[in-house]
Amino acid sequence: MCGIMGYIGAKETQKVLTKGLGKLEYRGYDSIGIALHDGTALQYNKTEGRLQDLEEKLEQEPLTGSVGIGHTRWATHGKPSDENSHPHMDAKKEFAVVHNGIIENYLEIKRDLEEAGYTFVSETDTEVISHLFSRLYDGDMVSTIQKVVDRLEGAYALGVVSQHDPDNLYAVREASPLIIGAGDGEALISSDIPALLEHTRDIYILEDGEMAILSEENVKLLETNTGKEVSRDLFTVDWDMEQAEKNGFDHFMLKEIFEQPTALQKTMTGRLDENAKRVDFDELNWTDVQISQWNKITIVACGTAYHAGLIGKHVIEEMTRIPVDVEVASEFRYRRPIVDENTLVIVVSQSGETADTLAALRQSQHLGANVLAITNVVGSSIAREADEVILTMAGPEIAVASTKAYTTQVLSFYLLGIYLAQSKKSVSQEYREKLIDTLSHIPEQIEEILDHSKGIRYYSESIKDAKSVFFIGRGLDYAVSLEGSLKLKEISYIHSEAYAAGELKHGTLALIEEGTPMVSLITQDEVSEKMLANIKEVKARGAKVLGIAEEGNLDIWEYVDETCFIPQTLSLVTPLLNVIPLQLIAYYTSLALGNDVDKPRNLAKSVTVE
Ligand code: AGP
Ligand code: GLU
Repeated sequence: MCGIMGYIGAKETQKVLTKGLGKLEYRGYDSIGIALHDGTALQYNKTEGRLQDLEEKLEQEPLTGSVGIGHTRWATHGKPSDENSHPHMDAKKEFAVVHNGIIENYLEIKRDLEEAGYTFVSETDTEVISHLFSRLYDGDMVSTIQKVVDRLEGAYALGVVSQHDPDNLYAVREASPLIIGAGDGEALISSDIPALLEHTRDIYILEDGEMAILSEENVKLLETNTGKEVSRDLFTVDWDMEQAEKNGFDHFMLKEIFEQPTALQKTMTGRLDENAKRVDFDELNWTDVQISQWNKITIVACGTAYHAGLIGKHVIEEMTRIPVDVEVASEFRYRRPIVDENTLVIVVSQSGETADTLAALRQSQHLGANVLAITNVVGSSIAREADEVILTMAGPEIAVASTKAYTTQVLSFYLLGIYLAQSKKSVSQEYREKLIDTLSHIPEQIEEILDHSKGIRYYSESIKDAKSVFFIGRGLDYAVSLEGSLKLKEISYIHSEAYAAGELKHGTLALIEEGTPMVSLITQDEVSEKMLANIKEVKARGAKVLGIAEEGNLDIWEYVDETCFIPQTLSLVTPLLNVIPLQLIAYYTSLALGNDVDKPRNLAKSVTVE
């Protein structure tokens, strides 16, 4: 959500900024702009729309300079428009500011400033910051930043360039992500790593309550309140730029779907020991006594990560018999959750920056719970603040629609379930061995599904004009249906719902009419008879059913219109396989409709506001 990019150095600043913003496009945005100091004055160019729109404008009026900031905006206050785009400037054009987040008390500040004669040209909350800089400037940027920040409530990552001090670029962070790249004779700020990799792999992660002063020669981190210098180790990025490029695939989403076998393999490596038939997590510091004291586990997450949590519930309950709740983070944080020192809270987040999930983590720690984070981003806020961390090894996920992050999160739950069961001795060794053996074959089984995915493409093209698409399943298949349905609606914009198959006749059946596409998952052995009965019910009302079942289940031909087979596996493990065709259905449907697959409308990759 929103991208910030800033540069100081000898390269062509405009190009560095626009290219960097291009790498942040995946986060979702509706407008874009840059500001540079050209040696004499601050100049800017900004527009509603996409990077290409900005580049067209810049072709007419290029900007030069050796320091600048850029921004992709995901509007929270004021519609997407040229005026509301960032950077925002004060009336005297002495300060240019880009902002990610929300200033909660902006109305109060705006009123004060208006009374003092300041005029506003945008509807944003951000504009108060540029006027505050103008009003509070005291000849020193650090103390001015302190005074400005003192007035702000809410979440913000800021990039600031000043007419008074064009040899430095300033960054401030409070509850919105921001990182610093320290290059050779240059320095950068950004919301995420891919935008920096072309220039440097050496990164400082700015923490909440900190600011940074960047010059061509060095980077200085300070505590914002006190101005005291902070010493921080450089963090070296160890993955390649290639991993953040499309590599010949038409879209990041398709590339990421095909990367799943590798991502899962990496997530297992060093943890799943096939010889010893055990799971080890060297990174976890729990003792057996501590584990034995948990009488409840609560999983908190948003969107797809929440759906991974639903699988986690089944798996952990099956393996440990500890009761598990799964909650949407935006709900959890606004009620009085029953969480205490005997609860393990597991937060799940690909980005590690989702505002609601981070708030749930803090609230749970405050209530005394031990918090485990399952996240994909080292150094993210959630990774840093959690008591324990399991990193999913999916590599950078760029497409807004999450795929490889989901399967690696789900796999992490299987590994965690086995790990806890080892400690609690809650499953037989035989069962554990079988499960470990089954999991180790999952990457190659996913390859198999991907190698035979042509039929899914045809099916997807056949549903592209549907008014509504339903997904049904029972047990774990229902949890996967929810994810399949979210994926489809997110990128195809077709209305879709997922239902527990037994629940249909309590209302939803009324929506089924002749030709309604119905994707049915039939991979849970113990309820497959029931599931087939539910399919009969929808067929009788005219639904056109695609059945997803395990190879060898030829009986389903009698019940469904079309089939998609997944390799055989344990019922408990099917989610890792049967979600793959659902991801492909979403992808190919979106493609057939000509949508922007990787950057669906209205959505952002990383949701850093509530
Ligand atoms: C997935 O396709 C979505 N774009 C979205 O639901 C996402 O999973 C959710 O916003 C949570 O993000 P996180 O994993 O980065 O916390
Ligand atoms: N709240 C600011 C705005 O609406 C910043 C939004 C963002 O993070 O992109 O302009």
